[in-house]
Amino acid sequence: MATHGNGRDPRLLPEPQGAYAHVVGWGMAVPSQVLTNQDLAAIVETSDEWIRTRTGVSERRIAASHESTASLGLRAARNALEVANILPLELDLIVVATSTPDNVFPSTASLIQDQLGATRAGAFDLSAACAGFVYALNMAAQSIRSGSIESAIVIGAETMSRIIDWRDRGTCVLFGDGAGAVVLKASESDGGIRSAVLRSDGSGRDLLILPAMASPESQQPGAAPVGARLDKLQMNGREVYRFATRIVGESISQALEKAQLDIADLALVVPHQANFRIIEAAARNLGVSPDIFVSNLERYGNTSAASIPIALCEAIDAGRIEEGDHIAFCGFGGGLAWASMVLTWTGRETGEPRPLGRQRRQLTYARAGWRRRVRDWERQMDDLVSSLHPRRGRLRRLRRRFERQRLE
Ligand code: UT7
Repeated sequence: MATHGNGRDPRLLPEPQGAYAHVVGWGMAVPSQVLTNQDLAAIVETSDEWIRTRTGVSERRIAASHESTASLGLRAARNALEVANILPLELDLIVVATSTPDNVFPSTASLIQDQLGATRAGAFDLSAACAGFVYALNMAAQSIRSGSIESAIVIGAETMSRIIDWRDRGTCVLFGDGAGAVVLKASESDGGIRSAVLRSDGSGRDLLILPAMASPESQQPGAAPVGARLDKLQMNGREVYRFATRIVGESISQALEKAQLDIADLALVVPHQANFRIIEAAARNLGVSPDIFVSNLERYGNTSAASIPIALCEAIDAGRIEEGDHIAFCGFGGGLAWASMVLTWTGRETGEPRPLGRQRRQLTYARAGWRRRVRDWERQMDDLVSSLHPRRGRLRRLRRRFERQRLE
């Protein structure tokens, strides 16, 4: 590996200073339906005692049939915009980290963009499994630091219950549904995201996998073990556990080195919520008390890319983060992919008050709903007219397109 003259890994050198990317808003959303360990014991051969002592999970939230990754992500995003007190129109970028998008395409981020009425934002999904939120946050922060954008919302949202094989006790007891979001904003003041270290080891691709239905491998006869559903998550729990206990401490140390900070400088670590034993091992490896690690596994289980922003929101609500605190995130999972980040907490913006912010956001959401309905109705009318008078329909469509371009 190439090193600088002083022998240090150049990828761990401090990042160049541009605008700072501060977290100025946060929000979460979980389904109301609760599935307890006792409920699961009625479905598969397991027990509350096994699940709690091996993982730390007591219950998890499960999306109702009317809920989706996009609807949970939207609720979390609206809550985050409320805290940030910014308008959807001010957003430049929306990134959704998810392994359970509503569709392969369009992106879940595009669905949320439309429903927020964030008509000046770019939107895309990012796939890095349980490390996705930290990856996405770093992508958005780098866009701010480079000066290419001024604000972004980063959402981790999942409906893991839709990709779980409910007959597989090795996985179905672990996961839950939910979403969390943070708003990032450019600022000249020091603080915000200081460093991130992203890593991947694709040689572990089969350890935690949701085989795509359309991939050539998944179509081969005998590609999956008998009884394995290709549209369901499969995991080699023991191997992933071994990987996680090895990399969490190491990865946080690397992010600290890059931020030129020490483990003693950290007020809090918000790790991916996979297993309390992984958190304990990481604390041991780093030589710190597990108390500085946030854990809400007991109530939500593993919500994949959503787990870090949900745990962050709860830590803020519990008063565990103060202005000026250095905190770290660490995500890890399928890929294998993992990532750590160090940031300095500055919290809510104390700039100019924005009068009627809430009312203006509500109006934007309502307008986005009307716009969507009008567009749907227009398309239906166009289809109807074209089926009756093919030439008139085409002319009307051209005229509408021309009018829209004139307005935009
Ligand atoms: O979010 C992405 C990252 N994911 C992770 O980090 C997950 C990492 N892995 C883990 O957290 C743990 O490996 C698990 C919680 C998944 C499993 O815990 P474990 O202590 O590694 O259990 P194991 O797989 O070694 O299984 C021990 C025993 C087995 O029985 P035998 O072979 O010893 O007779 C399993 O069949 O426990 C059995 N077992 C269960 N028993 C009751 C596995 N799942 C269950 C269950 N209830 N739900």
